[in-house]
Amino acid sequence: MKTTIYYYTGTGNSLWTARKISDALGDTQQIPIKLTGTNIIHSVSENIGLIFPVHIWGLPAPVIDFVNRLEIDPSKYFFAVAVNAGQVAATLIQLKKLMQTRGLNLFSGFSINLPSNYIPWGGAISPKEQQNRFNKAAEKINRIAAAIRSKEINPLEKGPAWQNIFLSLLYRQSYPYVHKMDKSFLADEKCTNCAICEKICPAQNILMANGKPIWQHCCEQCFACLQWCPEESIQYGKNTQKKKRYHHPEIKLSDMLASVLAKKMS
Ligand SMILES: Cc1cc2nc3c(=O)[nH]c(=O)nc-3n(C[C@H](O)[C@H](O)[C@H](O)COP(=O)(O)O)c2cc1C
Repeated sequence: MKTTIYYYTGTGNSLWTARKISDALGDTQQIPIKLTGTNIIHSVSENIGLIFPVHIWGLPAPVIDFVNRLEIDPSKYFFAVAVNAGQVAATLIQLKKLMQTRGLNLFSGFSINLPSNYIPWGGAISPKEQQNRFNKAAEKINRIAAAIRSKEINPLEKGPAWQNIFLSLLYRQSYPYVHKMDKSFLADEKCTNCAICEKICPAQNILMANGKPIWQHCCEQCFACLQWCPEESIQYGKNTQKKKRYHHPEIKLSDMLASVLAKKMS
């Protein structure tokens, strides 16, 4: 394959982005980061891409862990897409610095704005607003694919200075506590013990006990458990009960579970 894209996703936005870029490029394989386990990452592809959501104005922990396992020829063309809801902040700069510690260069880093899945700050936006974002993102993805095809070197996309200073500080302060933020998750009386939350969790952080999910405090805060629960039974604290759930409408539960099940069988 000419291009390999490694992706991480909670609610499908990053997977959709990976698929769109793959379709535009052709000859591209998509590998979920979670399928790589703890293995060292080698690749013979010419172009190597990373696509992932921005979490708390920075890189999610699984992406950091992934980059720390890269052992790839530095002459390859590396690109990244930080999928976010409007505040990419300094995420791509953080990625570039991390890659430099592995002797690798990030040649281009793009921001894609898609609907937010961070339900504590608001439920899903209307289908019409979602469609607007998908359309704009699709246009930008075509430009990104063209840049990758010609191996362009571009300045990394970033937020305004206030975001990069203030929000990066918040990222650094909250990062050590993310795993334990699952204390606010609970399953209410609508839970049917279907165990989809247990199956979909990329961190294997959920165990079913007495017919209810129990979070094990190694959470990655991707919100897959809450957003994919078919009964909307999973809540985060007290104010998510009435909020609309979100996952990318073109990504199906089976797409999400396929890679998780493959990992469990490996
Ligand atoms: C814990 C958490 C933190 C988030 N932090 C940010 C953020 O700092 N900036 C932003 O623009 N979006 C933020 N978001 C929104 C996601 O980046 C956005 O919805 C993304 O498209 C989700 O991608 P996914 O569906 O591939 O997981 C956050 C979402 C979660 C769950």
